[in-house]
Amino acid sequence: MNQVHVHSLFHEPTSTFTHIVYDHPQGKAAVIDPVLDYEANSGRTHTQQLEQTIAFLREQQLELVWILETHAHADHLSGAQILKQKQGGKVAIGAHISTVQSYFGKVFDIPAEEMEKGISFDHLFADGEAFDIGLLQGQALHVPGHTPADMAYLIGDALFVGDTLFMPDVGTARCDFPGGDAATLYHSIQRLYSLPDSTRVFMCHDYPPASREQVQAVTTLGEEKQHNIHLRADTSEADFIARRQARDAQLAVPNLLLPSIQVNVRGGHLPQPKANGTAYLQIPLNLI
Ligand SMILES: [Fe+2]
Repeated sequence: MNQVHVHSLFHEPTSTFTHIVYDHPQGKAAVIDPVLDYEANSGRTHTQQLEQTIAFLREQQLELVWILETHAHADHLSGAQILKQKQGGKVAIGAHISTVQSYFGKVFDIPAEEMEKGISFDHLFADGEAFDIGLLQGQALHVPGHTPADMAYLIGDALFVGDTLFMPDVGTARCDFPGGDAATLYHSIQRLYSLPDSTRVFMCHDYPPASREQVQAVTTLGEEKQHNIHLRADTSEADFIARRQARDAQLAVPNLLLPSIQVNVRGGHLPQPKANGTAYLQIPLNLI
């Protein structure tokens, strides 16, 4: 296996990492979880984070072949479609996104054809499906629990965990969204824990506690198994579920949940403009 190169960018406003994974300079690349900046007060989108991503791809002369979403994020708008327009590549997510699309399609009254495969996402990964990034081989792993459709991507010794594990001193992802389930997340993480301890674990987010100053993009599975504050290798399912549910009971609705989900179940497409030429996001009242 060729060396897996990873360049990680942190999006401060939403604490999200975008990872650029490539085989070699002038080779092929995947971008995992691209972010479209969004100002909730004005309803304005920006491409600041996407421009940094694109600048790196161009500097390294990388051909973008995949734009991979780990799940339908509830904390930021996906930049997948704008990235695809500018750099090419296929936008992909896990096949179970259909469950999330049918639930939130009703909440936001989204026409089914806007979420169809080929319109929203170009490719839906089955669990265990293999894919290539030039000389690199990847595998898509279905790891539900945070949502029913979460994916992790294993590319060589690099595991992009999405919202499952966070840094050992932060713990794990919440399981209180529709279709989320702590027992399911426990089993998904056991599956990840069966990989070698030396596996590099790349974060989807980092929320450093007061005891740590810097955000960190990567740790190892060995570190997670020994030190994760919610789920170590020796933590029982019942202990994890109790800890996870107690934590979830204290968490607020994410700031950008409503704007994010209705864009992200469309694969990162903004809603179609109305007859007056303006596109609108919808806010369901007294539903969430
Ligand atoms: Fe998430």
